[in-house]
Amino acid sequence: MAKLAQTPPMGWNTWNTFCWNIDEALIRETADIMASEGYLDAGYDTLVLDDAWMARQRDSDGNLTADPVKFPGGMKNLIDYVHSKGLKFGLYSDSGTQTCAGFPGSFGNERRDANLFASWGVDFLKYDGCYMTPGSNAEVLYRRMGQALRESGRDILYSACYSADGVWTWMKKTGAHMWRIAGDIADSWESIEKVGFGAVGIGSYSGPGGWNDLDMLVVGVDGKGWVGEIGKGSTVTEYQTHFALWCIMGSPLMMGNDLRKASPEIKNILLNKDLIAINQDKACVPATRVPGYAEVFAKPLSDGRIAFGLFNRNKDRRSLALSWDYSGWEITDSVALYDAIAHRELGVYSGSATFPVEGHGCRVIIGKRM
Ligand code: GLA
Repeated sequence: MAKLAQTPPMGWNTWNTFCWNIDEALIRETADIMASEGYLDAGYDTLVLDDAWMARQRDSDGNLTADPVKFPGGMKNLIDYVHSKGLKFGLYSDSGTQTCAGFPGSFGNERRDANLFASWGVDFLKYDGCYMTPGSNAEVLYRRMGQALRESGRDILYSACYSADGVWTWMKKTGAHMWRIAGDIADSWESIEKVGFGAVGIGSYSGPGGWNDLDMLVVGVDGKGWVGEIGKGSTVTEYQTHFALWCIMGSPLMMGNDLRKASPEIKNILLNKDLIAINQDKACVPATRVPGYAEVFAKPLSDGRIAFGLFNRNKDRRSLALSWDYSGWEITDSVALYDAIAHRELGVYSGSATFPVEGHGCRVIIGKRM
C-alpha cells in the first residue's frame, strides 16, 4: 500500500456550500474548474462528494447506490470523469446506521461498502460518526472501516469525522489519515477563531500519515449554503486570516466554496502558493506559539527558514511584534523577512520587527537568517 497523506491532504468538498443540493452537473463542472483554473496545479487534487449522494435505501443486493435523480449516470461513470481530469475522488459514509443527514450508513456493511467504493475507484473516504448504535465504541467502529479499506485492495485515504474531545490522541490507531478536531465550522469570524485557535497545543499529534483536521474551509462561502446560513458570512480579511491559520497549523485544506463563482480576491486567497508551500512543507514540523507574543506562531520549514503567522484577534488594528527569540534563532540574529501574502521582500531585521495588522487580520512572514 502507498504511504498516503505524507503532507496535509488538499481538495474540495461539496458540503459547506451545497449540502443536499448536489448533482452530476455540479461535480463535472467543479472537476473541470479544478483542472483548468489552477486549483489542481496548486495541490488541490481531490474532489469529495459529501453526504446525501446515496439513494434512501440500499439496493436488493444490499449495496449503496447513487441517488438516481441527482446522479442518473451512476457513481462509477462520474468517478471515471473526475479521474479523467487528473483528480482523485472522495466519497462520504458514516460509521452508524444512518449518515448525519439521514441516508443509509455503513454500520454492519463496512466490508461490503469498502469493497464497493474500491470497485468504483474511490480514493478518499470521509467517514462520519452520527447514529452509532447505542453502546457501540467509536474506536472499534472506526477501526472496522480502517481494516476494511486496507483489505479492499485500493489505496483509499481515510478521513475520520468524529469530533469528540481528545480524538487526536487515538484516531490514528484506527488507520485514519486525518481526523476532525472540532464540530462543524460555520461561516463566521467566531467559528473560524474558535476552531482555528482551538488547535493550538495539539500540533504534536499531527504529522505525516495522520493530520489534525480543522474542517473544510469557508473561504468564499459568502454567507451561502448550509454553513453560510448558520454563520451569515465573513469578510475577505477574515477569509484571508482563516486560510493563513489553516496553512500555518498544517490542517488539510479542503475548499468549500462554489468554485464556479469564485471572485478574483477569493481565488487569490485559495491559490496563494507561498502559504500553500508552508502548509505542504516536507519537514512537517508543527507550528508553535512564540512564548510571550500573543498569537504569533512559528513554523520551521525544511529549507531552514521559519514561517511566522501574526494574528490579530481584536476588532481594531494593532501593531503586532514578531520576534525570533525562542523560535530556534537568537534574538541577536539578523533575518531577512518576506511577506507571504503580499509576496514581497521586507528587508533585513535584527532581533524583532513590528507590523500593523488590521482587525481580524493577519500577516504571514517568512524569515531567512543571514
Ligand atoms: C457532519 C459533518 C459535516 C458534514 C455533515 C453531513 O455534520 O461534520 O462535515 O459531513 O455531517 O451530513
